[in-house]
Amino acid sequence: MEKTARKVMDVLSGKTVSPPPVWLMRQAGRYLPEYRQTRQQAKGFLDLCYSPDLAVEVTMQPIRRYGFDAAILFSDILVIPDAMERNVRFVEGEGPQMDPISVEEIEALDVPDLALRLAPVFEAVSRLRRDLPGSTTLLGFCGAPWTIATYMIAGHGTPDQAPARLFAYRYPQAFERLLAVIAEASADYLIRQIDAGADAVQIFDSWAGVLGDEEFQRYAVQPVRRIVNTLRAARPSAKVIAFAKGAGANLRTYRRGVDADAIGLDWTLPLDFAAELQKDGAVQGNLDPLLMVAGGDALDSRVKRILDRLGNGPLIFNLGHGITPQADPENVTRLLAIIRGGSGENDG
Ligand code: CP3
Repeated sequence: MEKTARKVMDVLSGKTVSPPPVWLMRQAGRYLPEYRQTRQQAKGFLDLCYSPDLAVEVTMQPIRRYGFDAAILFSDILVIPDAMERNVRFVEGEGPQMDPISVEEIEALDVPDLALRLAPVFEAVSRLRRDLPGSTTLLGFCGAPWTIATYMIAGHGTPDQAPARLFAYRYPQAFERLLAVIAEASADYLIRQIDAGADAVQIFDSWAGVLGDEEFQRYAVQPVRRIVNTLRAARPSAKVIAFAKGAGANLRTYRRGVDADAIGLDWTLPLDFAAELQKDGAVQGNLDPLLMVAGGDALDSRVKRILDRLGNGPLIFNLGHGITPQADPENVTRLLAIIRGGSGENDG
C-alpha cells in the first residue's frame, strides 16, 4: 500500500492511506504519567503553555511513547481570550475561568498583538518542527469563535452554554462583533503558527452542537469560513481540519460551508452518514473516547467497524473527542496495534 512520509498531509489532500494515519485529540494530557510529572514543574496550566521547554516536552511525550502520525502543539484554545486580557485562569478541578465580558467591553474590544502576547507559543511550534521526525505532521490549532465566545460570555464552562445562546438572542450586534474580533485574532494566530512551522491546523468548535439550525449557519459556519478565507488568502497551501462537535446533520453542508480539507466527526455520528460525508473529502474520527477507558472487546470491535466502514477512503483515525484523564495508556497501545495491524509499522 501507499507508503509516504507525511501520511496525514496525504489524507488532507484527499488521498486514501492504508492503514490510515492516527493521532488522538488531547493526546498529551493527564492520562500519561510523564505528563503529570512535567505538569508539576509548571506553576499553573498557562505557565505550561507559555514555557516553550515544557510545552515542547509534553507535545513530544505521546509521540515518543506511541509514534503517532501527528503531533498537536500543546497549548489551549483559551490563550486567545488570555491575549485579550480577559484574566483567564485554570482552577484545579474547576476548569477554566475568566472575567465575563459585557456588551460595553465587546464594543471596546481590540484584536490583540499576538506576536507580542503569544511569542512563546510560536517559539514552541518552531522548536517542535525542528525536533519532530520528518514523517510526523505538526498540527497547530485554535478554537472556533463560537466556542471561544461561550467561555468569554459565561466566564466559565456550562453544560449547554445557555449564557452565550441567550446573549446572542438579546444582543445580536454585540455578539457578531465579538465573533468577528475572535475570528480576526484566530486567523492571525493560525497564520503565525503555519509560519513558525505547523504543517496543518485544526479548528475546534466543541460547542457547535448546542446551536439551533439558523444559529449554526450564522455562528458556527460563517466565522470559521472567515478564518479559513483569511488563512488561505495569506497562505494558499495551508490545510485545515474543522471539528464541529455535535453538529450531526449540519455536517452535510459544513465542509463546503467552511471550506475545510477534512472534517472531524464525533462518536455519535452514524457510520453510514460518515461514509456519505467521506465521498466529498477526508474525514477524521470518530471512536468514543470512553473506549480508551473500557478497552477489551468493546474497543476492538468498534475500531474494526470504523476501519471497515471508513478505511477505504480518506481517513485520519482519531477519537470523537479528547482522550480523558481516566484512559488507560495500554488501551492506546492496543488501539494502534489494531489499526497498524501485522506490520506494526511505526515510522515515527
Ligand atoms: O490535544 C492536545 O494534546 C493539545 C492540547 C490541548 C489542550 N486543550 C490541553 C489541555 C487542546 C487542543 C485543547 C483544546 C481545548 N481546550 C478545547 C477544544 C477541544 C475540546 O476538548 O473540546 C477546549 C474546549 C478547551 C478549554 C479547556 N481547557 C477546558 C474546558 C479545560 C478543562 C477541562 C479539563 O480537561 O480539565 C482545559 C484544560 C486543559 N487543556 C488540560 C489540557 C491537557 C487539562 C488541564 C491540566 O493539565 O491541568
